[in-house]
Amino acid sequence: MYDLLLRDATIVQSTGRLVADIALEDGKIAYVGGSPGGKAKEEVSAIGHFVMPGVIDGHVHFRDPGLTHKEDWSTGSRAAVRMGVTTVLDMPNTVPPTVDAKTAKAKLAIAAERSVANYGIWIGATADNAKAINKLWDDGVICGTKLFLAHTTGTLGLDDDAVHKLFLDSKGLIGVHAEDQRLLDKHHKAHAKEPRPEHNDVRPPEAAAEAVSRLVRLVRETKRRVHICHLSTANELTILEPLFGDLPITTEVTPHHLFLSVETWQGDKNLIKVNPPIRPELDRRALWTAVKRGRLNTFGSDHAPHTLEEKAADYWEAPAGMPGVETLFPLLMNAVKHGRMGLERLVEMCCEQPAAIFALEGKGRIQVGADADLILFKEGESTKLKKSELETKAGWSPFEGKEIGAPPVRVIVNGHTVARNGTLMDDLPKGQAVTYKR
Ligand code: DOR
Ligand code: ZN
Ligand code: ZN
Repeated sequence: MYDLLLRDATIVQSTGRLVADIALEDGKIAYVGGSPGGKAKEEVSAIGHFVMPGVIDGHVHFRDPGLTHKEDWSTGSRAAVRMGVTTVLDMPNTVPPTVDAKTAKAKLAIAAERSVANYGIWIGATADNAKAINKLWDDGVICGTKLFLAHTTGTLGLDDDAVHKLFLDSKGLIGVHAEDQRLLDKHHKAHAKEPRPEHNDVRPPEAAAEAVSRLVRLVRETKRRVHICHLSTANELTILEPLFGDLPITTEVTPHHLFLSVETWQGDKNLIKVNPPIRPELDRRALWTAVKRGRLNTFGSDHAPHTLEEKAADYWEAPAGMPGVETLFPLLMNAVKHGRMGLERLVEMCCEQPAAIFALEGKGRIQVGADADLILFKEGESTKLKKSELETKAGWSPFEGKEIGAPPVRVIVNGHTVARNGTLMDDLPKGQAVTYKR
């Protein structure tokens, strides 16, 4: 007996759409096709609805352990699944930072206890942890190594020699925060006397472009596989464009860089202080063009919650980062509504490509045997984002009051319905650790 049968759903894949029935059993997709034989405990007519795999957000900062006044694995994952993100990969700049077997396993234990989303973790690169990285990679404990080329929230910045050594000595995927520390230092100094400089001037586009150029050289030399986080500028795209598909480099773009710009932001500038910074309109448009042309691989939220009290500090003291996991899917759906991209591209960049890049077992595709992580949704409906509805502990969003796509009609994690129309169910089952096929 199936647990759930979705009848006449329009399944969206990067290659197109098809109408089919989907049956779920024991947390897996048990059947996809014309009417299946057999009965189901629950049957839903999905006529007029789309179904896609749950969103995989390869870039969240859930702050747990150590910074749980901002977020924790419970609140962060509730925010995620409420709006269709069924799998998250957590960044290592927690307290303590996730940099070895002990801290990695401790974080996974917390996630196992508290997360209602499926989860995996990044390990942070330090000057001397290549050996630990390699063991954790071989043991399937981490999705990859996060490398901060510049200092941002946390303590994980690395100098040139250490970066080169990491590329030579470690294995697995390297995810990179690409800003050049030397250029940042120079511009920081130039603006140090101003009380409220433009963040985009303090950490200018050229710092991102310089770091990306350097990564390209490192990848050419070492052949390592690199995933560049949060591309934010036209210049980075220009550098990568002629290399597309030739080098083992993939890329991520965030909703905040796609939907916010220096010229159009009207609120408190500290709220959108983020590294890399929100850029001018020109960059934002270049990012959308790249999305449309299939030149970027993944959407990631870079969910980096800080409290409003922390954001109320002066420019220099205010922490960088903003919540985003809860608005990732509805913002992108609204972009589909307004013709920025097709649903096929959305599924490609939210599901299929992250599953492939991180080699996630059972994720990213609707097929028999895959995990039953699904979103049932309608297209073309929108709503206004209400602060009161947010699950993130940070309790705010730069998109409050803005038009977003309607919440998914249903979000299903491991076969369980966890949210309907933006409302979480009462008892949420625990998420599962992702596994890697590599
Ligand atoms: O703005 C940012 N915030 N950029 C980062 O790289 C880290 C993040 C955070 O963890 O707060
Ligand atoms: Zn970053
Ligand atoms: Zn980040």
